[in-house]
Amino acid sequence: MRTETLQHIALFDKCKNFTRAREVQAAGLYPYFKPITRSEDTIVMIEGRERIMMGSNNYLGLTHHPEVLLAAKGALERYGSGCTGSRFLNGTLDLHEQLETELAEFFHKEACLVFSTGYQANLGVISGLVGRADVVFLDKLDHASIVDGAKMSHGETLRFNHGDLAGLERKLQRLPEGTGTMIIVDGVYSMEGDIADVPGLLRIAQKYGAALAIDDAHSVGVLGPNGDGTSAHYDVVDEVDLIVGTFSKSLASTQGCWPRCTSCSASRSGASSCGATRAGCKRACARSASRSARRRRRSCRC
Ligand SMILES: Cc1ncc(COP(=O)(O)O)c(C=O)c1O
Repeated sequence: MRTETLQHIALFDKCKNFTRAREVQAAGLYPYFKPITRSEDTIVMIEGRERIMMGSNNYLGLTHHPEVLLAAKGALERYGSGCTGSRFLNGTLDLHEQLETELAEFFHKEACLVFSTGYQANLGVISGLVGRADVVFLDKLDHASIVDGAKMSHGETLRFNHGDLAGLERKLQRLPEGTGTMIIVDGVYSMEGDIADVPGLLRIAQKYGAALAIDDAHSVGVLGPNGDGTSAHYDVVDEVDLIVGTFSKSLASTQGCWPRCTSCSASRSGASSCGATRAGCKRACARSASRSARRRRRSCRC
């Protein structure tokens, strides 16, 4: 888009009128989007100077592990750089299926579906399962991908104050019996650092016949006896209905996943627009995430 275009089209008025970022940039105080020109895990190069990286989600430090890098390189050489098709058609590799099997085992679930990003995993799970007559409950501090997933669904979205289980229960009491209901929360809230009260949420979900979904983006690799997430941390894996994960933090890659029961009928078809029809389920990422998960498991056995 050319800057002159902004003058003539009303849709772009909001871009023209938003000047705060440019003002802060001009004052030399803008902290965002600083390009990293080299990364050695905790040391990165920014603006020609070495800096200590204090803000990354590389919780296990696996992004530069030689075994992980070797696995990713091997996948690139064997399969090339892109999938060139959706999972439905020519985009499913043996690597994807192998990774899904390993992840299902890792999360103690029957099956798993891999998406191109953690963001899309949330879009897929919520929009695939929450239909027209259903209701999805969101904690007010849930991640943006959960909020967007709820917007994409055709159901009603209701929000409760952060961690306010009594407030959640009051809202659930008002629903007609038999309403299809999902409660979805972050397992660990990345900005606040607190862990969701999964046993409390489960008690309420079970009382009102709701499905409980946990976004374990910041818990995988960190919480639980084997880094297997929030439900494992509370020893309630069998009772939590849905888990969503991402590989962009502990698993040193990109892509997202949904460990699930085999009979979750939305699995490949309902979640299709975010998962199965995306052509970007990356092969090197699948290999590196798989290798990272294996390393995490091995380190727990030692
Ligand atoms: C809680 C949570 N869920 C989902 C995501 C999305 O994951 P990704 O960035 O890997 O797509 C993030 C990423 O920051 C997150 O923090």
